[in-house]
Amino acid sequence: MHASAFSYSLTRPYPFRWLTPVVTLGFVLFLALFSAINYMSNGYQLVVVQSANPNATVQDNPWMRHWPSFLTSKVQPTCQTVNLALGSEWFTNQTAMTYTLTDVWQPEGGGAGAGYGVAPSLTYSSNVIEDCRVNSVEVDYAAMDRTAIQMAYSEYGAVVRTYTTCSVIGVNGTTNFNLTNEYDYVPSDLSFSGLYSFLGTNFLSRNQTRKSSLWWGESLMSMYWSFSSAKMQTIRENQTAYNQPAIRKGTLYFYPNDDVKITNMTDPRFFECNFRFVVDKGQGAYDFLMPSTYGEYSNYTSLSNLIASQAYPNIWQEADVLAKAAYSTVLTDLGQVDARSNILTDPGLLSYYTANFSEARHNIANAYPGPADQQYGTMNSGPLGTTPSVISTKYICQVPQRKPAGMLFWSIAVADLVFLQALWFIFRFGVDTLFLRRHPERNYCEGCMEQPRTTSSMYREVSPGPTLRCGKEDAEVEMGGLRPSARSRESGRSGSHLRSISQQRLIGPESMDIGGRRNEY
Ligand SMILES: *[C@@H]1O[C@H](CO)[C@@H](O)[C@H](O)[C@H]1NC(C)=O
Ligand SMILES: *[C@@H]1O[C@H](CO)[C@@H](O)[C@H](O)[C@H]1NC(C)=O
Ligand SMILES: *[C@@H]1O[C@H](CO)[C@@H](O)[C@H](O)[C@H]1NC(C)=O
Ligand SMILES: *[C@@H]1O[C@H](CO)[C@@H](O)[C@H](O)[C@H]1NC(C)=O
Ligand SMILES: *[C@@H]1O[C@H](CO)[C@@H](O)[C@H](O)[C@H]1NC(C)=O
Ligand SMILES: *[C@@H]1O[C@H](CO)[C@@H](O)[C@H](O)[C@H]1NC(C)=O
Ligand SMILES: *[C@@H]1O[C@H](CO)[C@@H](O)[C@H](O)[C@H]1NC(C)=O
Ligand SMILES: *[C@@H]1O[C@H](CO)[C@@H](O)[C@H](O)[C@H]1NC(C)=O
Ligand SMILES: *[C@@H]1O[C@H](CO)[C@@H](O)[C@H](O)[C@H]1NC(C)=O
Repeated sequence: MHASAFSYSLTRPYPFRWLTPVVTLGFVLFLALFSAINYMSNGYQLVVVQSANPNATVQDNPWMRHWPSFLTSKVQPTCQTVNLALGSEWFTNQTAMTYTLTDVWQPEGGGAGAGYGVAPSLTYSSNVIEDCRVNSVEVDYAAMDRTAIQMAYSEYGAVVRTYTTCSVIGVNGTTNFNLTNEYDYVPSDLSFSGLYSFLGTNFLSRNQTRKSSLWWGESLMSMYWSFSSAKMQTIRENQTAYNQPAIRKGTLYFYPNDDVKITNMTDPRFFECNFRFVVDKGQGAYDFLMPSTYGEYSNYTSLSNLIASQAYPNIWQEADVLAKAAYSTVLTDLGQVDARSNILTDPGLLSYYTANFSEARHNIANAYPGPADQQYGTMNSGPLGTTPSVISTKYICQVPQRKPAGMLFWSIAVADLVFLQALWFIFRFGVDTLFLRRHPERNYCEGCMEQPRTTSSMYREVSPGPTLRCGKEDAEVEMGGLRPSARSRESGRSGSHLRSISQQRLIGPESMDIGGRRNEY
């Protein structure tokens, strides 16, 4: 008989009636439990996605939110903050105008991170833009210094710059930032093809019904851009007709009147206005027009004085409306819902400031304003108002995604197998300890239990010495693994044959040395 280097163990069926149903039920229950746990803890993996709305992305996992967090902590969705560098351009989720970030700082007493002072970038994570204050609006008129295409649209042109301070409240408290918007209805890179048509520059999108306020803001800005530029041209033509030197360029600096804190925008004292105009006298000579040209300096930074005295060049009223339109459009675009002074969220004010639209529409050059060209109330548009704004940017997010079905099956199957095997080991250990240890005869192999009847007569002459016991050996062996009962029955049937081999070996001295540790079956 050949003896292999490998060996197998003997088994006996458990003598308990309840064991099979308990094991079957337990198997099904624990398979379901382990599968569920493994699915929660291993079924998902993090994948990188880009998101425009990180708060929604983080909250958009309806299943997982109800799962125990200790299982899913590895696969929680997260979004990184973005850093908006100084000088970067961005727009809000109203998708209207574009802004440049110019300063970022954390004010004293602004929360955990306060006192850090000037920062190189704005750390941003979809925070609502708050507390915006338009510090000033500057309108720069120019003629000969613009490109020929720009002059073809309009001899004079204007660049309207709006300087605003806003803040966001993030995890580290308040961060303030300065931003600049630049509006030129006929920018230097405009193509010639838009002549005699609405240009739609500077605004990224428009919607007459859904974003009515911004639609009117764009109309008001482009209308008064064209109207005031054309008025500069009329004034220049009159000067030329009288052989007087004309204005080459000029700037008007509008700033809120902090002395008398006016919130009624129709009041001419709402803005104060400082200005410089360059009068080109030819042969390189030029003059400056400034408030002191007309009288006492401080009296002629007052718009009401300038309008009342019709000071040259008399574009004060038109430029004032253009500045107020820019002021209101920026506040609307930045989502300042509770701004007290805003033409675009007040039907009465909007009606007042669009009253001259038909007159203005007939006093323009070749840059046609729009989209609205009639007074508010005579055209269809949606309700006025604005919603809170966030800076529109893309975030890198890590979101859980279910593994592919094949991979999921294997990872759950392997993990289930490990768990079930461990459970089976524990269960058998418990059963063996609780029920079998107390009855040592249950550890005898079946054949040994029949020993008194069969072996005594057959083998006595071969081995008359010690009484043969398989007890200890078999108990150890049986711990090793569960075998189907069919197999044990099989071994029981061929028991007499195996027994004879075993007994013959046990007689030999070398196998006696090994004792019970090795399974000689
Ligand atoms: C912009 O985002 C804010 C905050 O999510 C939201 O309340 C507002 O409705 C959005 N506005 C637009 C025009 O989508
Ligand atoms: C998005 O989440 C951040 C951090 O939780 C919060 O500061 C911000 O206000 C949220 N934005 C919106 C629009 O709800
Ligand atoms: C918040 O401030 C702490 C220091 O107090 C800093 O380490 C952390 O990076 C800041 N977090 C953000 C998002 O700015
Ligand atoms: C932000 O702008 C305001 C007004 O223009 C200015 O007074 C302030 O100094 C600016 N902030 C920084 C940090 O430069
Ligand atoms: C304006 O918004 C409405 C409502 O969202 C939409 O049905 C319409 O198509 C939009 N119009 C334009 C020109 O995008
Ligand atoms: C035209 O120019 C003359 C001379 O400068 C001035 O007296 C007159 O008021 C101007 N007319 C208009 C309509 O501006
Ligand atoms: C604003 O001022 C104008 C006159 O300048 C006046 O007719 C109007 O009633 C005022 N509006 C409010 C709300 O006070
Ligand atoms: C400037 O205005 C003040 C009052 O507003 C007035 O008393 C003064 O006479 C004015 N000066 C000139 C030169 O008009
Ligand atoms: C509209 O035009 C009239 C007359 O030209 C003028 O008195 C009024 O101030 C203008 N209104 C606005 C808002 O410019």
